[in-house]
Amino acid sequence: MISIAIDGPGGAGKSTIARTLAKDMGYLYVDTGALYRAIGLYARRNGAAPGDTDRVTALLPDIQLDLRWVEGIQRVYLNGEDVSEEIRLPEISMAASDVSAMVPVRDFLLELQRDMARKHHVVMDGRDIGTVVLPDAQVKIFLTADPEERARRRCRELEEKGLPGDFQQVLAELRQRDQQDQNRAAAPLRQAEDAVLADTTGLTLEESLALVKRIVKERAGNDL
Ligand code: DC
Repeated sequence: MISIAIDGPGGAGKSTIARTLAKDMGYLYVDTGALYRAIGLYARRNGAAPGDTDRVTALLPDIQLDLRWVEGIQRVYLNGEDVSEEIRLPEISMAASDVSAMVPVRDFLLELQRDMARKHHVVMDGRDIGTVVLPDAQVKIFLTADPEERARRRCRELEEKGLPGDFQQVLAELRQRDQQDQNRAAAPLRQAEDAVLADTTGLTLEESLALVKRIVKERAGNDL
């Protein structure tokens, strides 16, 4: 099986690029952030305070997560309920980042992610795919952009969903989440040594996609 790992901070365009790339290649697109978001949602619904590892760990046995794909679009099911839209709410971004720093949560999700890569050719995006989840991925890309540019993109996404956000607030939250994801002890966000850096600052989505495709071709060549 072939795996393409795309890691990077929030708002860098990972999910759109990974989804399009997977579709063009006929691979399965796996958005691992959605799994952390679903756990963050469950923790919030059950009144767990941010950072309460013991409480969240105690909730894990009650959580059944399933990923399904409808016309190439990943849907996430939490105990049988489709939470794909709800996990995108801005307040769930921080809840996801909080639970993702907890070792039992990362352990809980590790096999689920690896199992998908054992069964399918995948384009998998997240924070630790190239470093921890799939260290043997054939292609690793670290996709990033300036925080301001990422915040602008996030604001545009929110507007399109009818949830307009204040730029300064979106930027502050994004920086806080970067800080938290980069500085946690367990599987922090960082570029794998053998990953190619793709900085999309100033690039359109089309240009970013073309850059990523060029990297995939250079890295994997005739293996694909
Ligand atoms: O990619 P995203 O914004 O949906 O991810 C939400 C949070 O989940 C992110 O702040 C950090 C965490 N995450 C992680 O720790 N490891 C991953 N592979 C994916 C996401």
